[in-house]
Amino acid sequence: MMKRAFASILAMAIALAPAASAWAQQSAGLAATPQMGWNSWNKFACNIDEKLIRETADAMVKLGLKDAGYQYINLDDCWHGARDADGNMHPDPERFPSGIKALADYVHARGLKLGIYSDVGDTTCGHRPGSRGHEYQDARTYAAWGVDYIKYDWCDSKGLNAVGAYTTMRDAIRATNRPMLLSICEWGDNKPWEWAPEVGQSWRTTGDIYPCWDCEMNHGSWSAFGILRILDKQAGLRKYSGPGHWNDMDMLEVGMGMTEDEDRAHFSIWAMMDSPLILGNDLRAMPESVRRIIGRREVIAINQDPLGVQALRFYNQGGVELWAKPMANDEWALMVLNRTEAPLAWRYDWKQHQISDDLSQREADFNKAVYRWTDAWTGKRGDTSRRLEVNVPAHGVVLLRLQRTQP
Ligand code: GLA
Repeated sequence: MMKRAFASILAMAIALAPAASAWAQQSAGLAATPQMGWNSWNKFACNIDEKLIRETADAMVKLGLKDAGYQYINLDDCWHGARDADGNMHPDPERFPSGIKALADYVHARGLKLGIYSDVGDTTCGHRPGSRGHEYQDARTYAAWGVDYIKYDWCDSKGLNAVGAYTTMRDAIRATNRPMLLSICEWGDNKPWEWAPEVGQSWRTTGDIYPCWDCEMNHGSWSAFGILRILDKQAGLRKYSGPGHWNDMDMLEVGMGMTEDEDRAHFSIWAMMDSPLILGNDLRAMPESVRRIIGRREVIAINQDPLGVQALRFYNQGGVELWAKPMANDEWALMVLNRTEAPLAWRYDWKQHQISDDLSQREADFNKAVYRWTDAWTGKRGDTSRRLEVNVPAHGVVLLRLQRTQP
């Protein structure tokens, strides 16, 4: 009897194995490189409607941002109306009178994808209905609407186990058979990097971002953090990141009030760290200077490099940091970060600084090989046979891409 039960469990496991690995492949493919898109929260908070979303999708295409790689148009909190008598969720009838399905159709017709937002608890952070107890039903609803991406938040999570709550939504998504990217927004409270690679395609590592260089914005029971604060909280996490499962440093604040140098640094850091690139500004009305930053293909290419290895810091002195990112085809990206208030004239002898990375087993020895470099922001070129002489603005970066020349 025991034997037969064991045999049938074994047969079941064998039958399920290909399905499970097919799913793993499919979900890894959803974010083989960090996801790119736009989200409504940073600029609009709860003030969203279908017109904004449609206009944003149009702007994404018209401004060439879709061609630069941005794909998702994501509704954040407050799209919600109420549940009906059967528990099915509906959007706010005044703000989304055409419904989410029509919005998804609109976005899809432009070659883009639609994301939605929910929460593990009874209520979202904006006090709208969460998915607790309705996980499978909500995932089915989203799939029926044609949603491609779910950001799943952690407010009102009292009494919930994080691994369990997010795994339930993952399984609910699987049960729909529609590929939907699961963006885990748990703020790093329960070390998601340790368990989330099996659960979603990315996980927030920190609390919310704030558009400042190095500040903490105290909201009473919680704080939001500036660019450097978020960067510093990534220490020790790079080994958890990789294709299909990324450390998420939160949505971008480019074009949201920092200086151009700070915006360029912010975008460069997110690129180097393989964080998802989710724009947070108003795409319908932005200065050309902002469009140039978020559309800079040479920087996006560093983030989207197929090797998918997050940058490591190999130098840190007096407010200057050097970060290196191993890239495919024996290339590297190198970032000089000037955290300070003063511009920096950076002089650097490549030959004194070999880079080696235990994680990717890669090294760059500038005594053995010459690398040609291109400045990812300015296009300026040089090579490592000569001393590097660059000026790094205050609160700024210089970002180089290095290609090995044949010996
Ligand atoms: C939390 C999340 C934010 C945003 C808001 C919405 O604070 O971390 O990214 O989704 O909720 O209320």
